[in-house]
Amino acid sequence: MTTSRETTAPAAATPTARDIHSYAVPQEARVTHVALDLRADFTAKQLSGRATLTLAVAPGATKVVLDTNGLAIDRVTDGSDRALQFSLGTADPILGQPLTVTLPSGVQQVVVHYKTSPDAAALQWLSPQQTAGRRHPYLFSQGQAILTRTWIPTQDSPGIRQTYEARVTVPAALRAVMSAEQLTPDGVASGQERRFDFKMPQAIPPYLIAIAVGDIAFRSSGPRTGVYAEPSVLDLASSEFTDLEKMVGAAESLYGPYRWGRYDLLVLPPSFPFGGMENPRLTFATPTVLAGDRSLTSLVAHELAHSWSGNLVTNATWSDFWLNEGFTVYFELRIMEALYGKERAGMLESLGRKELTDEIARIGATSPDTRLHMDLTGRNPDDGVAPIAYEKGAAFLNVIEAAVGRERFDQYLRSYFDRHAFTSLTTEAFLQDLRTNLFKGDKALEDRINVQEWVYQPGLPSNATPTSSEAFAKVDRQVDAFAKGAAANTLDTKDWAPQQWQYFIGALPAMLTAAQVADLDRTYQLSKTGNSEILFAWLRVAIAHHYQPAMPALDHFLTSQGRRKFLRPLYEDLMAKDWGKAEARRIYQRARPLYHAVATSTLDAIVK
Ligand code: BES
Ligand code: ZN
Repeated sequence: MTTSRETTAPAAATPTARDIHSYAVPQEARVTHVALDLRADFTAKQLSGRATLTLAVAPGATKVVLDTNGLAIDRVTDGSDRALQFSLGTADPILGQPLTVTLPSGVQQVVVHYKTSPDAAALQWLSPQQTAGRRHPYLFSQGQAILTRTWIPTQDSPGIRQTYEARVTVPAALRAVMSAEQLTPDGVASGQERRFDFKMPQAIPPYLIAIAVGDIAFRSSGPRTGVYAEPSVLDLASSEFTDLEKMVGAAESLYGPYRWGRYDLLVLPPSFPFGGMENPRLTFATPTVLAGDRSLTSLVAHELAHSWSGNLVTNATWSDFWLNEGFTVYFELRIMEALYGKERAGMLESLGRKELTDEIARIGATSPDTRLHMDLTGRNPDDGVAPIAYEKGAAFLNVIEAAVGRERFDQYLRSYFDRHAFTSLTTEAFLQDLRTNLFKGDKALEDRINVQEWVYQPGLPSNATPTSSEAFAKVDRQVDAFAKGAAANTLDTKDWAPQQWQYFIGALPAMLTAAQVADLDRTYQLSKTGNSEILFAWLRVAIAHHYQPAMPALDHFLTSQGRRKFLRPLYEDLMAKDWGKAEARRIYQRARPLYHAVATSTLDAIVK
């Protein structure tokens, strides 16, 4: 379905920012469109076929440089199947290998014939046992930040926007979905196979090209929204996200039209390494958000918000990652406030602020990694994925909002998304836009906000707007009482929201007696909670106090889902304990085959 507002914008001429995580030389030749024709082989764990790249070639340019990582290149041709000369450069462990193709004069299309490696980091090939239904295999991709090059040879930089189309051939029993418009929703059967066609007419950064293949069913939740999941998960998933259609409306009322046509959600098998991934038209989400009571749907508000901050206006390089995530957390909370009120948004904001101050305490207030604009020289951009970009970024926008008033800030943000729609921006370009269109020469205002310190200095500036939540103040009083020796069943926890429980557990004193930990668990059945955030918080307490009765729950949690945000701290906590090391190794050895490469590459360095 397309709406009248949907635009087919050409790849806009983004001012070229040097992206140290890509080999591309876009000033010479730039990819503007990718056409994929791929077959999924679940036995070999390979995608194979070809990528036809359309290029904008500068006058006199004689080559195009692409990013690849672990691809087996069979041959490279022009649009008429004439062989082109190519060479693969030295492999860098983070960046992969440049693929340089010689361009005879006039050639504007190159066709790369290739296969992916069975251990391509972007792709996870699941056996039937690793799915909910246990009958069919499953494949999904995760491109952000620089993993698309492990399955598509293209210029893998967020500043190089590309439209795409795809033809995907899969076993006949399976369905393929992508971050694109479906031209053949049910596929076209031929023999033992089924073919699916897709089209993404808006220019996007390549990290947003995404695919999933499996036993996937769909249920509509409104005129332009719906949920995809394995059949056995679909009921739960679609009842969890009944507000999807309303969320899109709330987001549009804030910052302008949703420009991508449909907004659907795909609930993945449990090994999905993130909470959510904002693949355009089709957010990918972990099943750990299915709490049964809709209490974790702010994750969907977050991924939806990326349809503006991130997908429409994109960070030009991974050092500008906070432009994606900080804006998105701010926007996420505005959506939550619009739909569920200030109290819910206030709790989420306080939880986020606590994550931020904990992180700053952990790495130190003078650590360069607490700066919004990150220095990622020689590093994997994955290292930038920390609460700083998210929560310090959002806190910065809150300070601007407080300084100019919400109405003026909303007007500005709306115009910002319009002005820069379908382009990629650096931090400096954003600051320039702020000065021109919001501060308008008011130097005193800029100084009051303290822009330079917020963006380029470490730590949390002193003018951060304090967060406050009445709901959490209530919890604090019960934490105090409990710390002073009150029994768990005397605490006033009546009508607590799940976020209050999450906060309660995080706010408990670092040292509790064994009897206190057991009292809490017996009274509130915390080891049995179905809310993954609460369980995660509780398991950290359990590890800290070596609380034996929770160990089966810990074992189960670590072996039944693969979300890195939950795994990393739990394994770190275990590894920090003498008794925990062996336990961590034992569990990890069993669980590792379930996890995605994104998670194991982090965890291999922790569980040793
Ligand atoms: N885009 C991110 C996920 C991501 C970031 C993947 C960097 C790879 C590299 C996504 O929008 C996100 O932030 N997900 C969060 C959940 C969100 C509610 C904060 C997550 O996965 O935990
Ligand atoms: Zn995000």
